[in-house]
Amino acid sequence: MLEGRLDRFGLLPRVLAGQVAALISVGALAVSWKLQYGVDPADPVVRSFSAHWIYLDAVIAVAFSGGFGLRRWWLAVQCALPIAAWQALRFDLPPWIFLIAFVILFAVYSNASAERVPLYLTNRTTWAALGEVLVGEMEGRDFTGRRPVFFDLGSGVGGTLAYLAGSRPEWDVVGVETAPGPYVVGWLRALPHANAQVRFVSLWDTDLSGADVVYAFLSPAPMDRLLEKARREMRPGALFVSNSFWSPDAPWDGEIEVDDARKTRLFFIRL
Ligand SMILES: C[S@@+](CC[C@H](N)C(=O)[O-])C[C@H]1O[C@@H](n2cnc3c(N)ncnc32)[C@H](O)[C@@H]1O
Repeated sequence: MLEGRLDRFGLLPRVLAGQVAALISVGALAVSWKLQYGVDPADPVVRSFSAHWIYLDAVIAVAFSGGFGLRRWWLAVQCALPIAAWQALRFDLPPWIFLIAFVILFAVYSNASAERVPLYLTNRTTWAALGEVLVGEMEGRDFTGRRPVFFDLGSGVGGTLAYLAGSRPEWDVVGVETAPGPYVVGWLRALPHANAQVRFVSLWDTDLSGADVVYAFLSPAPMDRLLEKARREMRPGALFVSNSFWSPDAPWDGEIEVDDARKTRLFFIRL
C-alpha cells in the first residue's frame, strides 16, 4: 500500500531517498557507537570497521529502497552504489568527472525519472513496417490538397523520423522530444530533410489535431493518459500507433507483428 502511494514521487526521488535514509541511519549508528565506546582512528580494528559501515549502509539502502517500492534490479543497484562510491575514493578521481557523468546521464535519460520513459530505439525492421503503414494510409485515405503529417511522440535520437522523411518524401514528419541530448541529435538528423522537424516540447503540450498518423514508443506508464489525449485531440480517420505498450483497460483496433528478433507488436486505433 505504501508502495502504491510512493509511486507518484517518481523513480529518481525514491532512489535518492533510499540512499539518503541509509546514510542518515548509518551515520546515527556510527555516532552512537563512538559516544558509547569512543574511537581511536589509528586502531586497526576500528579501521577495518570503516568497510563494515559501508556494507551496512548498502544493506540498509536496499531495505529502505524495497520499502519505497523499487524493483528488484534497482535493489541490486542500490546495494552496489555505496560500495562503488567508496571504492572510487581509492582512485582519487577529480570531482568534475562525477559532475560530467551526471550531466551526460541527465541529458540523455532525464525523462526516465519524471515521465518513467527511458531512451531505447525503434529498430530498422520496425521503421520499415511504419513506412508500410504510411504507404497504406496514402492508398486508403484522401489527402487531396494537403500533405499528410506523421508525429513521433518522444522522438529520441530521430532515427525513425530521418528514415521516414527520406523514404516517404510525400509525408511531413514531426518529432517532439524533451531530453536535451537526444533532442539535439534528432534535430541534427532532421536538418538534411526538408519534410522533417524536431521540436523541443513535451508530448503533453503537443496538439495532435494536425496529425494523420501518431506514433509512440514510450512505456506502460503514460499509456492511459496518452490514449485519452489521442482520442480527445486526433481528427476522425487518423491513426494512433504504439510500439509494444498499451493501456491494460483500453481496447485497440488491431496490431501488426513486425518480423524482427523481439517480435515487436504495433498496436493501433483508428480515430
Ligand atoms: C523509448 S524512446 C523512443 C525514441 C524514438 N521514438 C524511437 O522510437 O526510436 C522514448 C523517448 O520519449 C522521450 N520522452 C519521454 N517523455 C516525453 C515527453 N513528455 N515529451 C517528449 N518526449 C518525451 C524520452 O526522452 C525518449 O527519448
